[in-house]
Amino acid sequence: MSLERTLSIIKPDGVRKKLVGEVIRRFEKEGIHIAALKKIRMDRAQAEGFYTVHKERPFFGELVKFMISGPVVVMILEGENVISRNREIMGATDPAKAAPGTLRKLYADSIQNNIVHGSDAPATAKFEVSYFFKDSEIF
Ligand code: CMP
Repeated sequence: MSLERTLSIIKPDGVRKKLVGEVIRRFEKEGIHIAALKKIRMDRAQAEGFYTVHKERPFFGELVKFMISGPVVVMILEGENVISRNREIMGATDPAKAAPGTLRKLYADSIQNNIVHGSDAPATAKFEVSYFFKDSEIF
């Protein structure tokens, strides 16, 4: 067991569908601590920088367009093994393949419009947490 931090994003579709409360409620019910939280609208450069690992993928352009289409809620989740626990709570990237009861199975429309993002590994989590938050914003 290790105490970890991970970045969670409620994507523009999640915000448009008024799922902010549902998603936060789910994390809190699972005993996960919300260490930081803010609502922002990313600009193109910020979204491209965030998803730079996917820049060669065919869906990159559409993904960036989607991520800047409206505000998002960015959060730092903190808890024991929270990186993998958050991924279990979200479900598979493609909602059609997500397990019953996961956020994506319950609420997402497509592999792109999948309502939430979560860091996939410790190194990614470190990069993603510091991409959006300064130490003074984390509690
Ligand atoms: P996320 O977990 O934020 O990580 C990368 C994102 O790219 C992913 O969720 C989806 O929103 C998007 N994505 C991944 N695979 C595809 C795909 N095959 N087609 C379109 N979008 C994708």
